[in-house]
Amino acid sequence: MAGATLPLLAAAIAACCLAAADAAALVGDTCAASSCGAGQRCASCSPLAGAGAAVCSRTTPLDPKAHGTGLPFNRYTWLTTHNSFAVLGSASRTGTPILAPPNQEDTVTAQLKNGVRGLMLDAYDFQNDVWLCHSFGGKCYNFAAYQRAVDVLKEIQAFLEANPSEVITVFMEDYAAPGSLGKVLGGSGLSKYLFPSAKMPRDGGDWPLLEDMIAQNHRLLVFTSKQGKEASDGMAYEWDYVLETQYGNDGLVGGSCQKRAESRAMDSTKQSLLLMNFFSTNPSQLWACGNNSAPLVAKLKACYDASAKRWPNFIAVDFYMRSKGGGAPLATDVANGRLQCGCDSIAYCKSGSAFGSCTLPSASPKTAATSPVAAPPKTAASSPAAAPSETYASSPAALPPEPVATVSMKLEEEDSTGTSAADTAKSSASSSNRSAHLSNSFLFGLLPSLLLLLLISDLSGVN
Ligand SMILES: *[C@@H]1O[C@H](CO)[C@@H](O)[C@H](O)[C@H]1NC(C)=O
Ligand SMILES: *[C@@H]1O[C@H](CO)[C@@H](O)[C@H](O)[C@H]1NC(C)=O
Repeated sequence: MAGATLPLLAAAIAACCLAAADAAALVGDTCAASSCGAGQRCASCSPLAGAGAAVCSRTTPLDPKAHGTGLPFNRYTWLTTHNSFAVLGSASRTGTPILAPPNQEDTVTAQLKNGVRGLMLDAYDFQNDVWLCHSFGGKCYNFAAYQRAVDVLKEIQAFLEANPSEVITVFMEDYAAPGSLGKVLGGSGLSKYLFPSAKMPRDGGDWPLLEDMIAQNHRLLVFTSKQGKEASDGMAYEWDYVLETQYGNDGLVGGSCQKRAESRAMDSTKQSLLLMNFFSTNPSQLWACGNNSAPLVAKLKACYDASAKRWPNFIAVDFYMRSKGGGAPLATDVANGRLQCGCDSIAYCKSGSAFGSCTLPSASPKTAATSPVAAPPKTAASSPAAAPSETYASSPAALPPEPVATVSMKLEEEDSTGTSAADTAKSSASSSNRSAHLSNSFLFGLLPSLLLLLLISDLSGVN
């Protein structure tokens, strides 16, 4: 698409969205404090002084449950914070100034309120307790000991208590001796929410339905990096159930999606959850600003290719609120769209429709309604690219030039999701009524993603 059409599209969309969204500033707009829409904040992306005006950027993904809770848990994607406890500006509860670098900018409670549902915590035995800490040589020191594990676990407890349909997953980087962390978990009041590891699928099968997990109050998953703690601490050994990509700079090598050492191969089919890390070795707000958008979405695609054509269930980042617009919340919407309905964003999923039936943002709803993306694999094979690209061509707003990642995902997945398409058709039929409310919030939910895609394409042209 010619670059010249972008401003037109942007203008058209801005017009439509401004009308619909009560004239709040849009994602990517410069903003005066408090004028951004819900799920956004007004901040400048770069932490550098004089880096430019503050813009509205997203802090919150669309609710992964917006399209219903009738799918297995492994068909949902959750925004995840790396070192969720290492919050900028905190003083160590030991009384010593923190010298270890922060990874996030708000408390765990604030993260949860913004829709973060995966937390990565580093647990150490320290001062006769378990602390969340950065390590030096595997040991926790005062200057790196952010807070007691029990305090963060109590924040999680309070959130689960107050929000009875939310599910949280904790990944413990576990340096604690057998027994100590389990004891702290018990002391925090979280035991009653624990999803029992005996019920986790061990052979790569589907997880229970999200709605059943919620109904049974099994709303907390805790994985440990240390083997043998299922009996002693009631925590599942992560890599029996989860595939995880390499973290830090080594995980950023363009176009690839390496596993981390402890994980089984990314294309192993014996684990049904997938955690994608995307952050630099030295946590950096500047890095997050530049990379938490288009490069993150491109990484999703690389990991899809490397992981037996599966989309990540957890997208783990540093400084999750920092981006030039859509950031990690947008990437979460993309993965949820692909996983739940075969669309490029959960905003495009159509209530009660077959997998691959997407509502595309468009001035002519008819095009969207007849979106041929739903074509079953055979049809797709006989006219591989024609169907999706035609759809997109007639609703150009959905086709930003640069997130080729996003668009080509669609093309490639259509001829590879035969079985999962069938599965989904079943599940989405059963969940159709639960998601009926989506249509109301649809326009509202759609706009940020759309604008974001546009914005990303704009920016990546500059970089
Ligand atoms: C984005 O990540 C790449 C490495 O993957 C890095 O070279 C680049 O500097 C990062 N961008 C910013 C703005 O930090
Ligand atoms: C969904 O709701 C409609 C009425 O609102 C009803 O006719 C239909 O049977 C329901 N479908 C399911 C699957 O419950």
